[in-house]
Formats: sequence, C-alpha cells, structure tokens
Amino acid sequence: MDNADTTVKPEMFSLPDKYYLTTPIYYVNDKPHIGHSYTTILGDILARYHRSENVPTFFLTGTDEHGQKVQRAAEAKGITPQEQCDTTVVRFQELWKRLGISNDDFIRTTQPNHKKVVQEILQDLFERGEIYKDHYKGYYCVPCERFFTTKDLKEDRLCPECGRETSEITESNYFFRMGKYQDWLIEYIKTHPLFIRPVFRANETLGFLKSGKLGDLCISRPKARLSWGIELPFDTDYVCYVWFDALINYISGVGYRQDDEKFKKWWPASCHLIGKDILTTHTVYWPTMLKAMGVEIPQTIFAHGWWLIDDAKMSKSTGNVVNPMDMIDLAGVDAFRYFLISAMTPGQDASFSQETFMTRYNSDLVNDLGNLLSRVIKMTLRVGDGVIPQHGEFQKAEYDLAAAVDNAIVTTSAAVDTMRLDYGMEQVMNAVRAGNRYLEQTAPWTLAKKGETERLNTVLYCSAELLRIVSILLDPVMPEKMAEIRYALGLSKDQTVQFNVSELRKFNSINVLSGLKVRDIDALFPRYVLPEKVKSKPVEMIETNTEGVALIGIEDFSKVQLLTAKVLEAAKVDGTDKLLRLNLEVGVEKRQIVSGIARFYTPEQLIGKLIVLVANLKPAKIRGVESQGMLLCAKGANGDLKIITVDGEFSSGASVG
Ligand code: MSP
Repeated sequence: MDNADTTVKPEMFSLPDKYYLTTPIYYVNDKPHIGHSYTTILGDILARYHRSENVPTFFLTGTDEHGQKVQRAAEAKGITPQEQCDTTVVRFQELWKRLGISNDDFIRTTQPNHKKVVQEILQDLFERGEIYKDHYKGYYCVPCERFFTTKDLKEDRLCPECGRETSEITESNYFFRMGKYQDWLIEYIKTHPLFIRPVFRANETLGFLKSGKLGDLCISRPKARLSWGIELPFDTDYVCYVWFDALINYISGVGYRQDDEKFKKWWPASCHLIGKDILTTHTVYWPTMLKAMGVEIPQTIFAHGWWLIDDAKMSKSTGNVVNPMDMIDLAGVDAFRYFLISAMTPGQDASFSQETFMTRYNSDLVNDLGNLLSRVIKMTLRVGDGVIPQHGEFQKAEYDLAAAVDNAIVTTSAAVDTMRLDYGMEQVMNAVRAGNRYLEQTAPWTLAKKGETERLNTVLYCSAELLRIVSILLDPVMPEKMAEIRYALGLSKDQTVQFNVSELRKFNSINVLSGLKVRDIDALFPRYVLPEKVKSKPVEMIETNTEGVALIGIEDFSKVQLLTAKVLEAAKVDGTDKLLRLNLEVGVEKRQIVSGIARFYTPEQLIGKLIVLVANLKPAKIRGVESQGMLLCAKGANGDLKIITVDGEFSSGASVG
C-alpha cells in the first residue's frame, strides 16, 4: 500500500510494536519557514497518533549545525559559527514550542555526545578500510555542499541538484567506499518495498543507482577550506563532511555507542520523514553507511513534496518566504497545523497562499466544525436544560450519521499507516458535514416546539457523540481546539485521548456523554474576513426616530470613562446565585467589580476575557463586597445577558469610545 493510492483500504491498518520517527535536522544558517514547519508538524501528528494508540513512541528532531552554510552565515554576520548556531537554534525551538511539537528529544550536532559518536564511527570505518585517503578531482557546488564528477554535471558545469555553477576542485581527501555497496543497495530496495516511499521515489533512487557506477563518497573537508565541522580522529587537518556527520544523528540520538538498551529499544527507525530534496543522501549515503557499520537499515524513508508559494519555489531572493509565526498570528496554531496537513498529499507538491489558507479555514473550521459545535451546544442549552440527554431509538438518520462517523474512524486509523493524513482528515470533515446536514434534516427546534422529547433527545445526543469522536480523531492534528470541544461537551479538557479500540471502534460504542452538562464557549474558530472580500457597501440612511429618547451631547458621553479590562479571576459571591466577583487587570492597575451575571456565565467562562469596563463609576458595596466599576453587557429580549468583549488580541487599560 502506498501513498500514491488515492483510496485507503482500512484492512491494511496495523500497529507497530514501537515507533521511532525522525525529521531531518535543520540547518541553522537561517530561521525556520513553512517547509520546515510542515515536516515537523507531520512528524508530530504521526507521533501523537501512535502515542494515542499506546505504541511506545520516540520522536526526534533537531538541528544540523556544521558545514559551510552555517560557517558562511556566521561570517556574514561577523560572529563565530557556534554563536550562529546558538542564536538560530532558539528560533527553531521557539517555533516548535509554539506549534505544540511533542518531540521526545532535540539533537544538535554540536553537542559533545553526538560528536564523540561520529568520531568513533569514523575511526572504526577507517581501521576497517571502509574509509581511505585519495586525491580527488571534482566539481563542487557550494550551496548544496556536494561534489560531482564530470558525468554528473549538467552542461556548462552546472550543479545537477540546484542548477547553479560549480567550481573545479582538486585535493586530498578521505573517501567512504560507498561504491562497493551499489549492487547490495539495488537489491535491498527491490526486496523492501516499504523502504523508500512513495514508490515513485524508490524508482527515482533505483534509476540513479542503475544509471552508472556508484562512486565512493568524499567524507572529509580540508580545514584550510572549511574549519567548522567535526575533526577526523585520524587526521586533524580535516573535518568531517556535514552530511556524514548529520545522518548519524538518527542513531546517536537514540543511544548508539552510548546506551545499548536505549538503542536496542528504538533502532531501527520506523520512519525518517524527509523532503524530496534530500532523497539521495537518505536513500543512498545513509543505508550504505549503516551497512558498512553493521547497523540495521531503517524501515521507511518517506519523502514528501515541497510547499510552493503561489506555485513558485520559496526563496529568500524572491522574497516569498513564508514565516510560520505570521500564519499562526493570523489564524492560530491549530488552524495552521490543520491547513498544512490537510492541503498537501504527502509525496506531492502543494501551493501555499494566505488566501487559500484562510478560505479553507473559513469553510472547514469556521463553517463546518465550529458551526456544528456552536449549534449543538446552543441547542442543548436552550432546549435540553444544558444536559446531554439519553438517546431514544435510532432511525435511518442516525444510522446514516453513524456510518459517516464509522467511516471517518476507520479511515483515520488507516491513513496514519498509509501516510494519507490529508485523506483521513477529509473523511472526518465529511462526517462533520454529515452532522450539519443531520441537524438540518432532523430539525431539533421543530421537535422541541412540537414536544417530541424522545426524538429531540436522540438528536441532541447523537450530534454531541459525533463531536466527541471528531475531537478524538482530530486531536493529534489540533490538540488545543479538540480539548475545547471536549470541554464544551462537559468532558474534562485534559482527559487522556486514546484511540482505544474498545472505546472508539464505533459510533456510540460507549455512552460517556448522557448526563453531562455542556459549557458555552466562545466561537471555536472566529471567522476571518478575507481582505479582498471586504467591500464597503453604501450604507442606506434610515430616518432615526428620536422621539422619547433622552439625547445627550458628546460632552456628556465623554464623561463616561470606558476601558478594556482583562478578567484575571472570577468567583461566586457568597449567599447569592446572581452575583460574581471579578478581579480585573486594567492596564497596570488591578480592580474588583461585582456583576449580576452569575446566571449567564460560569466563573471559568469569564477568565481571560477582555471586557469593557465603566471605569469612573463611583465605587459601591454590593452584598458587602466593594465594586469598583461596572462591565457592559447586551441584554436580549428574553432577559439573556451577553458580555461585550473586545475582538481579537488587545491590551487591557485601553480606552473605548
Ligand atoms: N540539514 C539537512 C538535513 C539533514 S538530515 C540528516 C537539510 N536541512 S534544511 O534546513 O535544508 O531542511 C531540509 C528539510 O526541510 C527538507 O528536507 C524538508 O523536510 C523541509 N523543507 C525545506 N523546504 C521545504 C519546502 N519548501 N516544502 C516542504 N518542505 C521543505 O537539508
């Protein structure tokens, strides 16, 4: 089964005994972009799925800190290479933290244990004649840091990888006898169909291996040309070639030559996730290196495609590099994770634009998922006393809904195995859409009006059950938002999420929802207005009827000081069920107010909200508690109260008016 398939066959799903997953280690010559984010998010989701299945999981990412790219970046800034590493690694670590990446370790190739392992391997291979010294004449591509022979080059000595000009170089260097493993590698790839995925990438490597004699690999750089690397233990005039050093991170990161038990537990890797740009290094250099070391070959190397920006390659010179932090600021971490994974079929390229991102955000997350949650919660609050009821007998509508959900469950599990997460997520969203259609079809409002309580209860229960299952299926993709869904359904936010087979085999296989009190939450995904779509319509002027209204002048209005205030704490006032005491942050000041909103909001719902405060109201004692101001609310015709809040991220203490 391969990701080139467009359908996922559920029966293919199988769980491994353990799961060791890696991302490439990223160069620290520059800050991370969405391409790096994609690989790491994909890895994180796969790791989370496996953990949720109780599969022992180790997820490794890190940084590649040696070599010319890093040395050059440091020179350009007038700092040492180590300073370049130490400042840039933080950019990656901060981004991974913000993106909720759950890596078990973060490896830096400048860390002493890694360097020691690389040197031990070099020494061992040298002693066993797998590494030898020779003169070498070749063509070197600086950006790719690769040597090529004449036959590898494109016309005019251009680099076959990036198409840029190469320079001719002759020097003495050390070589790894890669060429002698050519036949073995061809055979290995042919007999291990899961080794390189997708299949067309395996064919690419095979094509390369069969196109001519595989040369030996130059694994050293004379210090005179490049000093930033791991010194060869048998010749201090040289440092190790950055790729030879970098690939070893996959074993040094799990205890190779340091902790046998740990190494035995995790190696061979279940999957090295890589981008298609680094296929040869991973599918030719790495397996031959391991073969020479006598170490097992990883199970799978999965090469995904590239993110293009508006169909063009991302590049600093074009100025089209997308900063992941900006995208997170725009729509939140979970929405960004969702988009990157749902919009790319692993293996193929995909095109990123802010507009496609936000259009998909509005349609899938706001209109479909967010809307379903808000409909279910509101309905349960209004017609079901806020409690998820016991369901009555299922009818065709429920069986259809259950079929859509069951399909999403099976497809998601299979999609993890087949690397078609995009397809799995599409099926989950199809179940969400089925949920919205179900509500339209069963019309719970009408059922409530007609007093058909049993039927209404079934609809409320089933739509909540759908959301519960969706919150588990999409938890690895959007952990924060899915926890919010469970919280809204009355479940605990931090309840362990597991793909526990007995719990999640089928729609309604267990009933954990009936009897739970739902919680009203803010919109799960606030709608984003696409800039292009904002058109100012001419406003129709309507005659205002001011009769009987006590008009005030602007000077009167300006006497009222309205300020934004953040709710830090909230609690019920003793002896009454109407009042809440709120502790507020108003700029640098702290205030306490008492408000009659206890019947409309629980204290937890208010914490963190940015409200509007009448700040210059005379302090008053309400039920013995001092109130230093008043918050603004909108009052509905039925007496419902809704607090006025400030749209988006904003500071407290700002004036309103
Ligand atoms: N340091 C090497 C990898 C060594 S692994 C032993 C390297 N680093 S890199 O910083 O250039 O990052 C490469 C990886 O970033 C790619 O393989 C891919 O996973 C990801 N991406 C970089 N640009 C990308 C896109 N435009 N789109 C998707 N992912 C890409 O190579």
